[in-house]
Amino acid sequence: MSFDKQIEAVRNSFRADLDSFSNEEKIINELQVKYFGRKGLIAGLFQQLKDIPANQKPCYGKLLNELRGKLSKEFEAKVKSTTEDSSTNKKEFIDYTLPGYRFPVGSTHPIQQTLDQMKEIFKAIGFNVGYGPEIDDDWHNFEALNFPPHHPARDMQDTFFVDQSTVLRTHTSNVQIHLMENKPPPLRYLVPGKVYRNEAISFKHYCLFHQVEGLYVDKNVSFADLKGTVDYFLRKMFGESVKSRFRPSYFPFTEPSAEVDIWNERRQQWMEIVGCGMVDPNVFKSVGYDPEIWHGFAFGFGVDRIAMLKYKIDDIRLFYQGDVRFLEQF
Ligand code: PHE
Repeated sequence: MSFDKQIEAVRNSFRADLDSFSNEEKIINELQVKYFGRKGLIAGLFQQLKDIPANQKPCYGKLLNELRGKLSKEFEAKVKSTTEDSSTNKKEFIDYTLPGYRFPVGSTHPIQQTLDQMKEIFKAIGFNVGYGPEIDDDWHNFEALNFPPHHPARDMQDTFFVDQSTVLRTHTSNVQIHLMENKPPPLRYLVPGKVYRNEAISFKHYCLFHQVEGLYVDKNVSFADLKGTVDYFLRKMFGESVKSRFRPSYFPFTEPSAEVDIWNERRQQWMEIVGCGMVDPNVFKSVGYDPEIWHGFAFGFGVDRIAMLKYKIDDIRLFYQGDVRFLEQF
């Protein structure tokens, strides 16, 4: 154990002893001897000064002197305070029938609960969890994901621009690019986070929402793996009887692409909760992965939608109003 640690240990053990201190002569004497005696713990530390390199000796010497001074003051104060208590002998009257203080207890936001549960489900099948920037450049949010400049697909995502080449990310797919730029394949990542879109606000659209991105890159990854993974997740999240459907779709960065809907019993309608597909070879090229060797799938779950289904909440806006009456129900 280093000398610093030993000093720390003496200090900690002293404090622990003081915490459980009781004012009896025997105990006071014991502690006196244990810490301040000729063969006590503090003397023991002074003993060891001889093994300390010469240039550090003055410094440690000073430290130990201070320690001894401080602890003995604390010790005296403790003995004094407990002695006075018992000598005044004035027992405080406590009325046990008075109501106690109520400590307001917070709760975990339902979105956070959903994110936590999603992370657990995917961690159990070998996904790592990663994060990326919410303010990003055009390259990571669009270009490297196979959205060429002026491509109409950019319109699919109503973007908040910070300046001409900087955006509030419209999806967590930007982190796919960051991950692949920084790590060699194979990869298996889950990326929870906030995303921003300049959309008309309604019960199922808000300017801010949450996604959980998944990226799986390896040799021989197939669409069947993607489907199995999504199905597995849905059954874990919503139970074996969950009703879902895959629909063909389009995203510039996946080919083929699909969307998955879940049946919303309360509204009697399908609700889209995830976009997914096989990573487009152009995406691999833009991060320097060889698309002849590596294949992959990606997905992006809409977390707010999942939370709405799970907790039977009809309006996405409730998540963002910070109304305690709503939040304390979870
Ligand atoms: N980024 C897409 C969206 O926000 C979802 C998605 C992620 C689609 C990954 C395919 C693969 O709509």
